[in-house]
Amino acid sequence: MADDSFVSDRDTFHYLLDHHQEIRRSVTNLDNGVETLTESDNEEVAAKIQEHVHAMYGRVEEGRPIRMRDPLFAAIFRHATKVDMNVEETEKGVRVTETSSDQRVAQLIQAHAVVVSKFVERGFAEAHLNHEVPPATETVAAQQDRPLTGQQKEELLAASVQFDRYYIPVLALTNEGKAKPATKAIGRLSDEYDAIYQRVLDALHIVPDQSQDPTRQTIDEVAQLIADGQLKKAHETLEPIRDLTMQRRQQLGIDYPMDVLNEYHDVMESIVKPAVEMKPADVDKAYLEELKQAASGASEMWTEVEQTKFPAKLFGFDKEATQKLNASIAAERAAITALNRALADGDAKTVLKAAKGLKPPFAKVYKSFGDFSGLK
Ligand code: HEM
Repeated sequence: MADDSFVSDRDTFHYLLDHHQEIRRSVTNLDNGVETLTESDNEEVAAKIQEHVHAMYGRVEEGRPIRMRDPLFAAIFRHATKVDMNVEETEKGVRVTETSSDQRVAQLIQAHAVVVSKFVERGFAEAHLNHEVPPATETVAAQQDRPLTGQQKEELLAASVQFDRYYIPVLALTNEGKAKPATKAIGRLSDEYDAIYQRVLDALHIVPDQSQDPTRQTIDEVAQLIADGQLKKAHETLEPIRDLTMQRRQQLGIDYPMDVLNEYHDVMESIVKPAVEMKPADVDKAYLEELKQAASGASEMWTEVEQTKFPAKLFGFDKEATQKLNASIAAERAAITALNRALADGDAKTVLKAAKGLKPPFAKVYKSFGDFSGLK
């Protein structure tokens, strides 16, 4: 480990550790690293801080490691080429900006800055200790840069299936205004969610802060709304999760068959929602034009659904469940055809009825992916 400057470097940080009580330090975490200010009113100590940091800057720049017995320091030096260090002398010490464009290295830099603060606080008592490398907390965005392995994709698909099995009943039952079964369903989702989420994290090798998981927060909120009897609001609060999980899967390049249904759902709602509010007298040319466009979009998207494979094994379907699903898919196609026929006919009442008619068979298709057992 010995190199030319080793002895003088060691003397310097021993001096600093000796005088740790005369040093003050503040650390500001940046997105990509830290900004630190380390100073002393004692001129000699201030000069030694500057000397130390210049020497360490040299070690990082030139990759001459020190303190390799300490895992955190060893890790910093392993990634030394990715560390950008900028040292500015102040009157009483140094202001250092240390950053990295690599998220993981930025994390190591932040952890190292905490250790330096502990040196300042506790002197030799801390310097004798070793310091662990913090667990990786990669974001989904960082993960995106690397393609997932086949096994990771399979794990995430299985976790998605498991999630939907408990999520869909809550969505359906709150929509149908069934308070008691909805209470059971949200209880089950809440109980199972942490394990499912952990499965996703394990598959992606990420360890984010669980308290910041928006889905967990939404589930808790929805449980409260259901307990308060606000089923409609609970339903609306829960709905965005579907789009959120779909977006995450798309970011990660995961083809989850249900997402084709999720996309269709939005087009279908854009047809059904206005029709529910309208009376035949409200039907005018502009509405019919718009509806024609939407109906043609729905038809196209449903073709995609028809061409999507919903593997029985992945979803745990037996023969009967598969037959039921196929029958519901055919029923939605019939509803789309009926809507187009009504539009060609132009009768306002029939058009509105046909528009609303898209929902029940779709709901059946969607509900086939939920587990409704034991919720009565
Ligand atoms: C009271 C004692 C010490 C003070 C005041 C001090 C101060 C500093 C400061 C200001 C930096 C720039 C980075 C930052 O601000 O976070 C730094 C970096 C560094 N220090 Fe110290 N230090 C002390 C003790 C030590 C000891 C005992 C070692 C053991 C070898 C050490 C090794 C390093 C290394 C390797 C770096 C560069 C690596 C990096 O910044 O990522 N320091 N130190």
